[in-house]
Formats: sequence, C-alpha cells, structure tokens
Amino acid sequence: MNASTPATNKMNIFINDLMKKMTLQERIGQLNLVTSNIPLSAHIAGDVRKGSVGGMFGALVGGKFAMTGPEPLHEIQKMAVEESRLGIPLLLGYDVIHGHQTVFPIPLGLSCSWNLRHVETTARVGALEASANGLNWVFSPMVDIGRDARWGRIAEGSGEDPHLGSQIAAAMVKGYQGDDLSHPDNVMACVKHLGGYGAPEGGRDYNSIDMSARRFHEFYLPPFIAAIKAGVGSVMMSFSSVNGIPSHADEKMMRGFLRKQAGFTGLVASDFNAIPEMIQHGIGDARGGIDENPLQTVSAVSLKAGVQMDMMGWGFLTTLEKSLAEGKVSESLIDEACRAVLEAKYKLGLFEDPFNRFSAEKAARHIRAPEFHRAAREIAGDSCVLLKNDNDILPLKKADITIAVVGPLADDEDNILGPWSFGGFGGKAVSVLEGIRNVAGDCVNVIHAKGANIADDQRMVDLLNFAGPKVDIDARSPSDLIAEALVAAGKSDIVVAVLGEGAEMSGEAASRLDIGIPPSQRKLLEALAATGKPVVLVLMNGRPLTLQWEKENIPAILVTWFGGTEAGNAIADLLFGNRNPSGKLTTTFPAHVGQIPNSYYHLKTGRPGPKADPSKYTTRCYLDGTTAPSFPFGYGLSYTSFAYGPVTVDKTALKGNDTLKASVTVTNTGARAGEEVVQMYVTDPVASIAQPVKLLKGFQKISLQPGEEKTVTFAITPEDLKFTNAKLRRAWEAGQFIIGIGRNSDDLQTQPITWDKGPKTPARRARKSGQSLVSG
Ligand code: NOJ
Repeated sequence: MNASTPATNKMNIFINDLMKKMTLQERIGQLNLVTSNIPLSAHIAGDVRKGSVGGMFGALVGGKFAMTGPEPLHEIQKMAVEESRLGIPLLLGYDVIHGHQTVFPIPLGLSCSWNLRHVETTARVGALEASANGLNWVFSPMVDIGRDARWGRIAEGSGEDPHLGSQIAAAMVKGYQGDDLSHPDNVMACVKHLGGYGAPEGGRDYNSIDMSARRFHEFYLPPFIAAIKAGVGSVMMSFSSVNGIPSHADEKMMRGFLRKQAGFTGLVASDFNAIPEMIQHGIGDARGGIDENPLQTVSAVSLKAGVQMDMMGWGFLTTLEKSLAEGKVSESLIDEACRAVLEAKYKLGLFEDPFNRFSAEKAARHIRAPEFHRAAREIAGDSCVLLKNDNDILPLKKADITIAVVGPLADDEDNILGPWSFGGFGGKAVSVLEGIRNVAGDCVNVIHAKGANIADDQRMVDLLNFAGPKVDIDARSPSDLIAEALVAAGKSDIVVAVLGEGAEMSGEAASRLDIGIPPSQRKLLEALAATGKPVVLVLMNGRPLTLQWEKENIPAILVTWFGGTEAGNAIADLLFGNRNPSGKLTTTFPAHVGQIPNSYYHLKTGRPGPKADPSKYTTRCYLDGTTAPSFPFGYGLSYTSFAYGPVTVDKTALKGNDTLKASVTVTNTGARAGEEVVQMYVTDPVASIAQPVKLLKGFQKISLQPGEEKTVTFAITPEDLKFTNAKLRRAWEAGQFIIGIGRNSDDLQTQPITWDKGPKTPARRARKSGQSLVSG
C-alpha cells in the first residue's frame, strides 16, 4: 500500500472510481503485457480495443526490433485511448539496457567506470530518447550479481560486488525516473530479475539456483533493496527457481521479502512467458500430471504469489475468470494486481495525458543528439580497463609510423554495440578502425586486415545470428586470412589486434563452456605474437575472459567490453593517449574456467593455504594450478602511476555508534594526469558465521595531476560492519576488524582496529537480536 498523503489519496479516489466502472474482464485485461509486430495483428488490435491489454513492450516494426520515432506507438496508444470502452492508456515498455538509440557500454563495462555520474547519465539519456518515442517503461536496471563468467547475462549486470551493484542500481533508477515519474521526460524503471538469477548452476542460463538464504540475502538482494529505496516503480521476476521454487511462484519472495521487508509498493511483472514455463518447472500441474488445464493452475499460483502482470504468458487473460468462478483465486487478488497496473499509469501521468511522452519535436532534438554522442564517447573511454602495458607501449605515438589494425572486430560497426542494443539500429557505431583513423592524425599510416573470423564453427555462427545476421564466415580460408594479416603486420611498426566475442556471445541465452578468445582468433593472435612485432590486444567482450596465455605473451591488453555508438572513437582516444584509462574490473578474470564460480569475497575456509605455491590439502591448491585469478576484482592500470601511503585512522578502539575515519594519501608519481579508484574493504576476522575474506564498503574516484597528492578519507560506521546473521538479520558483532584500502582487491594497505558494543542502553537491548534485513 502507498502511504497516505494528499497525492496518494487523490490517486486512490481516481482509481477506485475507475475500477468501479471496469468489468471483471477489463480488470483482468490490465494484467496482460504483450509484444507485437507493428502494424498490430487483427488479434492483438482486437484485444487492445476490448481493453484486454494493459501494456505492450518491445514492439517490432516489420519484424525487427526498431523504434524510429513516436509514430509507431502513437497509433497504438490512440487505439487504446480512443477505441477501448474506458480509454485506459497502455504502459509502453522497451528493453533499454545500455542506452536506447545512443548506445552506451554494456552494463558490465559501465560498472568498470566506478563513476555514478556516468551511470546516471546513461539512464538519463536512455529515458530522454525512449520517452521521445512515446515509451514510458524500461526494463532496466538489471542488478543480478554475477560470479560465474560462463553465464552470458553477466554482461547485463554490474559485476560481482553487492556494494557497488547497489550504488549503481540506485543511480540508474534516478536517471530513468528523475524526481517526478509523471514528467514526460521520465520513464518507469524495472529492477530485475528477482532473484538470484545470476547464480544458475553450471552458468547455464535459466538453470536452477540452490543457495542458502543467508548468501541470498547477504550478496544477491542488496541491489534490489537499493533500487527499491531509490523508488523504482516496478520489479521483474526471474525465469529461474531458487531452492526449488520458481520465482514466479515464490510468495515468500514477493509478499514477504519484497513487500513486507523491503517495503516495495510498485508493480510486479513476470518475465517473458515465465508463468507458463512453470509447467515445465514441474509445479504447474495441480493433479500430478493429469491436470487438464495446467496454464490455469500456474496462472493462479503466480497471481496468489504476487505477480501482477503476465508478460506473454496469456494465462492471466485466458484463465483467471475461470479460476475466480471455481474459487481458485479471489476477486480481491485480481483487483490488487489491476490496481498496481493502474497506479503505475497514474504515476506516469498517463490518465492526465496519455500522449504526454510522444513528441516528434523532442525526438528530433534528443535522439542521438551530439551531446549524447559526446557523453557516449567519454563514458565508453572511462569504462575500458587497461590490464597490461609493458614498457609503456601505450599510448601510441602520433608519429610517422605504420599501424596494422587487425582482427575480425576491427572494422565492425555492429557487434561493437553489444547485446541488447536493438534501439541502436538508427545508425551503426564507430568502429575501432574508423576511430583510429579519426584520432591518429595524418602522419600515422593505418593499414587493415581481417585476419580471422569471429568464429569458424558453423554451429556457433548460426546461434550468434539467431536474431539477425551479425557474424559471417569469410569465403577465404582461415589460413589465407591469417596470411593476409601477417603481411600487414610485416609492413607495420606496431599491431593493434582487435579481437574477442561477437555481441551475441554474451547476453541472454549465451552461456559458454570455454571463455577464452575464440580459437579462430587465438590462432591469429599467436601468429601475430610470433612475428616479434609489438602487439596491442584490444578486446571486446561481454564477460570476463580467460587470458592467462595473453597475459604471459602479449605486452599490452585493453578490455573495451562492448562500448556502444562511440566506442571506436573512445578506444582510439585511449590508444593515442588523448584520454587516460581509469576503469577497474568489477568482475574477477579467472585464470582458468575451472576456477568458476569465483569472486574476491569468497568465505574463509579452514585450510586456505599460502597464496604463493599453495600446498596439497589447501583450498587454494588445484593439482594443475591455483585459485589465483589472472586479474582480480578492482584491477586496472593507468598511463600514470599512483603511490599509496599507509592507512591512517583517527581511532584504533571504537565503541557503539562511533564513526571511524580511515585515510590514505595517494600520489600521482607519473608524468600524466590520471584518475584512480581508491577502494576500501572491511574484513571481520572472527564472527559467529564464517565471513568473506574482505568486502568492499566504499570507493572514491579521484583525479590527480602529475606530482599531485590527495588524502582520501572514508567514514566507516557500524553499518559497514553488519552482516546477515544466522537469523537472517543484519547485525554486527564486536571485536577486531581490518580496514584495507588500496588500488584493487588484491593490493591493499591494512590497519586493524577494534570495535566494542559500548554501554548497554535500552535501545541497544531492543536491537540486540539484530535489525531488519533492509536496514543496511
Ligand atoms: C526476457 C529477459 O529475461 C528480460 O530481461 C527482458 O526484459 C524480457 N525478455 C523482455 O524482452
């Protein structure tokens, strides 16, 4: 329930009046969320006119995901408003995942900027462009914590860390929704996918999840809580089951966690066809395999559990009336869901003006506006992570040299946009080759060769092209392609190899067994390295890749993710030193796929073993390797260098609600201005439950001129010491804590402190058993 205020009272009166006029079938119609081709089929148009559609999303124009301006959706909204009995406007949604028409880096890349202003900007631009097209709802942010690089959807989230993930979730909600959801520039956000979707067994998309409630609450739910605190208007449930319960049937999750604990008052939507899929989950048959109408069963189960809008499942629309007649659902459950949909529409201002977001003038002004392109270039640059730069091979000199730009992704204007970039169709992106030509200046001679296919394997190529052609197999043989690249390398002073994944190698339904650079391209890279020419590896990727060989054999490695519309220019800015890399990894890069799942905040074990050369009978020891990643969480280089002083604290013994100030002085010891992400971690060495070896609790991105030093101070309170205890409550336990501050999760200066509970007060006694889960 929304808290009672004059505004909500007014809304309630309006919706009560409206619902009184609605027939049962019209109220059920509001729960139906569909996608469709434009122009609408006679069937869907009929449903819209009947008031049997509450919302439409991802509308396809001519069979393609496209949105060229306000016209296509305007017609549909007009149909709902002018031709249905009560004229209730539609929610109009879209998967705006990393920008809409101006495409920004994929979320995993964006998170590596550790720049919340950038994050908010991408959502803001997405909202301005989407709303100009008439859209009022975006299916973002995706906040699933990912610790398994085999899972393709790791690309869509903000990496492995709950603290950073929470801050990003809140910034995105703010960017989309602004301060007033009814403003025509703002759109309703949808936080997804509740919950635990990022931890499927084996990294296989849609697979089940089995994890302790404690882990779930400690690491997977915080970004949802942050989005809810930021006022997110809607939540999307996850395809998967957690501990045997499909999320769409999980009453405890929706009515317990989401409503009661987290205080969410908005709209809960299903994922695509996920309600009928509960039949395959094996819980859809009320009579153990002989149920004559399993769709009816799962639809009733979902509604009762708390799902309010059925995305492309058709079960709410077609079975709820029957379920009501048979006493399987109550009318108040249907009304509760209908009210949630109508409230979302009311808050969006659609009842005042259903066409408030359609504006050809706004579309012309906003869509792919030059200032959005400038932002896209800056943000794509700040999202890249420099993993290696031996002998300062980078930045490249704008001198009289020849650069061979080689690789199947070098001249690519499509894959560089990344997965979930349907809206970016309005124009191709700037390729790396084009960006290099734009930025290098006249004296640099740029030559190009493709060198390899993204993949040689026909099955893989077919899967990558499932939703439209993005990857081809060249008519020339792989060895001819490599030979041509070697000729180019022979003529050059330096080779820039642009390699990695095709866009569809990550994202939904894109799990991989082997997360290295695809074999066709790895052969090319080995051949280039064997020439003895210096090689700069520019990677495009939607997940961490295994790069141990590359780490050992290639002098410079720049991870660029999928940078979007301006990626080629942004990458060239970095390669030629117009911009200094400042991104840091938000996901661990494993040395071997066998180390997965992994994260920097694994729990302590009884036999950790030494980091260097761990012996048998220790956790760090594999017979054929160790648990050490190739590149740890938080890692990233700059063209300058930063020196860290020791951690200083204002107190070493604290009590109760004290605040600890922990500082470190960082000095730019190199010759260029640069930005550094200073990271602060807390370790709780002894507690009633085994704790992570460390957990990020704060970060600050600072910029320093050459020779400049800055003291960075973190204020640490008992909130930062809390963990989810055995009773699933947030609490902290007195004792020693270790504060670690540094450049990445594996390179910290540490300072132990003690924190006591302080004198017992009545308030503290009352809190003794810990606070509610959402407090921290
Ligand atoms: C399925 C995806 O899981 C979800 O994230 C997306 O929003 C919907 N499809 C709609 O496209």
